[in-house]
Amino acid sequence: MSSRAWTPLVTNPHALPDPAAGASVSGSLGRVGPAVPAEEIAGAISSEPGECGPTRALPDPAAGASVSGSLGRVGPAVSAGEIAGTISSEPSECDPSPPLSLADAVKTATATLAAAGVPSPAVDAQLLAAHLLGVGRGELAAMLFGTTVAPKGYDALLARRAAREPLQHITGTAYFRHLKLAVGKGVFVPRPETETVVQLAIDVLTQLQQERGRDGGPTAVDLGTGSGAMAASLAGEVPGCRVYAVELSDAAYPWAVRNLAGTGVVLVHGDMRDAFAELDGTVDVVVSNPPYIPAGAIPRDPEVQLHDPHMALYGGGEDGLEMPAAAATTAVRLLHPGGFFVMEHAEVQAAQMADLLRGSGEWSDITTHTDLTGRDRATSGRRR
Ligand SMILES: C[S@@+](CC[C@H](N)C(=O)[O-])C[C@H]1O[C@@H](n2cnc3c(N)ncnc32)[C@H](O)[C@@H]1O
Repeated sequence: MSSRAWTPLVTNPHALPDPAAGASVSGSLGRVGPAVPAEEIAGAISSEPGECGPTRALPDPAAGASVSGSLGRVGPAVSAGEIAGTISSEPSECDPSPPLSLADAVKTATATLAAAGVPSPAVDAQLLAAHLLGVGRGELAAMLFGTTVAPKGYDALLARRAAREPLQHITGTAYFRHLKLAVGKGVFVPRPETETVVQLAIDVLTQLQQERGRDGGPTAVDLGTGSGAMAASLAGEVPGCRVYAVELSDAAYPWAVRNLAGTGVVLVHGDMRDAFAELDGTVDVVVSNPPYIPAGAIPRDPEVQLHDPHMALYGGGEDGLEMPAAAATTAVRLLHPGGFFVMEHAEVQAAQMADLLRGSGEWSDITTHTDLTGRDRATSGRRR
């Protein structure tokens, strides 16, 4: 499968503009970078106050000059720090001009992020400001009409986002259902479509809990928990449910430890293929959002390609289905007859997932489920 065919199906809801229209996207991992030359980013916010003195000079955007001869490069060679160094909205001690207003800074930041190809520039510009100011987006909206000045450090965060670092890595936070999760380097940022997958499991678990009463709480297992998003949702939204989760990655596991602390979830650092042997044949619900991208498919979004861990993306094999198949095999082992399994996948894999479950002969009620945009993004079955 070509990366082009795969592109719209990658889980990240963001999408770069058409490469043919000028974005700096290529098929290789090493060449993705800011979608516009860094001097354009600097130029986009040239109305901000500069510094006096000989040690630092902004380029003349009209002349299209680059700074220190380095900002003309596109791609990883221009770091967020380099960009930040050229676009300060923070007045220096010797700058007589008034500080930039929050409203002007957010407006300029929106233009900068749009120029860099960020798909939701206004929202991201606002969320970065809200993060620094320690307020919610609603409060920030009110502040935009007031006299608040641009928060210190805004330019540095803006430059990182313009370099296509995920917003959630910059703020350190991902929102998932009712949860505020800690995320960063080494862990997969949970996606909105997975919230829908979790709902399918919650519905089944809630019904079981009602049928069994308080003493017979159901049991659920999350295979490949990453940040712990699915497991924490099950534990938080189905009181009395005993939840188990497994994560193989050394880098992701500490994030799961952090997010699952105090939730009651039993977390194991290991391989889903042999995890929880002590639960074999007893589990009510198994959920999984396994890695499922085919080996040859390169995600188009720099946020995904450069920042999501490969272990979280690539499912193994030409079709990416090795890990989904492993998750299904583990679910067969863990579930009792009648137990429910639901697994996320890419839209194009819906038929293959159904075939995979059907082919094993272990499943009944095999069903494809859509996400909120109507795409086939999950398959479930009942253990025979
Ligand atoms: C697509 S991410 C999903 C993370 C999380 N469940 C979510 O939805 O946000 C897949 C996760 O499975 C983990 N993983 C990959 N292979 C695994 C294995 N053999 N055993 C356990 N976890 C594995 C990855 O490290 C990654 O955290």
